[in-house]
Amino acid sequence: MLKLQEVSKHFGGVKAIQKVSFELQANTIFGLIGPNGAGKTTLFNLISGTLKVSKGKIYFQNQDITHLPAYKRSRLGITRTFQNLSLYPDLTCLENVLLGAASWIRPKLKDLFVFNSREYKQLQKQAREFLDLVGLKEKEKLSPSQLSYGHQRKLEIARCLMSKPRLLLLDEPAAGLNNQESHELANLLAFLKKELNLTLLIIEHDMDIIMSISDEILVLIEGKPFIQDTPKNVQKNPEVIKAYLGEEDIFADIA
Ligand SMILES: Nc1ncnc2c1ncn2[C@@H]1O[C@H](COP(=O)(O)OP(=O)(O)OP(=O)(O)O)[C@@H](O)[C@H]1O
Ligand SMILES: [Mg+2]
Repeated sequence: MLKLQEVSKHFGGVKAIQKVSFELQANTIFGLIGPNGAGKTTLFNLISGTLKVSKGKIYFQNQDITHLPAYKRSRLGITRTFQNLSLYPDLTCLENVLLGAASWIRPKLKDLFVFNSREYKQLQKQAREFLDLVGLKEKEKLSPSQLSYGHQRKLEIARCLMSKPRLLLLDEPAAGLNNQESHELANLLAFLKKELNLTLLIIEHDMDIIMSISDEILVLIEGKPFIQDTPKNVQKNPEVIKAYLGEEDIFADIA
């Protein structure tokens, strides 16, 4: 579904991404992990089109999208969340979810807020279903700023779903979530793959989550691919434990 071919990104002298190649099969969950500053978010920016590659090629469903602007990639079904949330505090939660439709409803975006139109009501119904799916049904009239950080992250996912995604890029979706919320999130992501046939590329520092839901994991270190394998094999790779985790074995309580 998504293919990166020797993708590199340099910021002046900083080689943030160096010759990263991988292929993501449709209807799978692909985990992207690595230490802080490894280049994970930069890779997301390159895939979603917020940043241009310095070198290499990116293909989505066999189409070369390397030079396609972000909004066109979004129309193809590539949708992302941001590491730092990007919600609108002056809109309600429901309206924030509705905004997810902006990528495909244009040029009739204004119709979104013509409250008695049939189109609006249909979209509203859909938005409510997505709010329900992420567990925020009761919060639709609130401002996102009234939600906990974890709930805001879920709201962002609901908005992504509204954009009719095929490939969902989630940048640290479990950040700020407590144990119970993390567990719910893992279930939600598995549901999106299984029931909505989505393909997910997920950056996550929460090893428990990423190891339990991913079909495959890519470890990125200093902008370079270090290992790509199943979660099981990644967890027991001594090189990974040494290079990525230092002396501390953070997989210890997972296995
Ligand atoms: N717009 C930019 N301009 C210059 N340097 C950048 C830019 N974006 C990222 N970098 C640099 O690229 C490298 C990779 O950063 P990136 O944010 O992709 O890492 P990350 O793996 O997402 O880290 P974290 O786990 O902390 O979110 C870092 O050295 C960072 O300083
Ligand atoms: Mg990041």
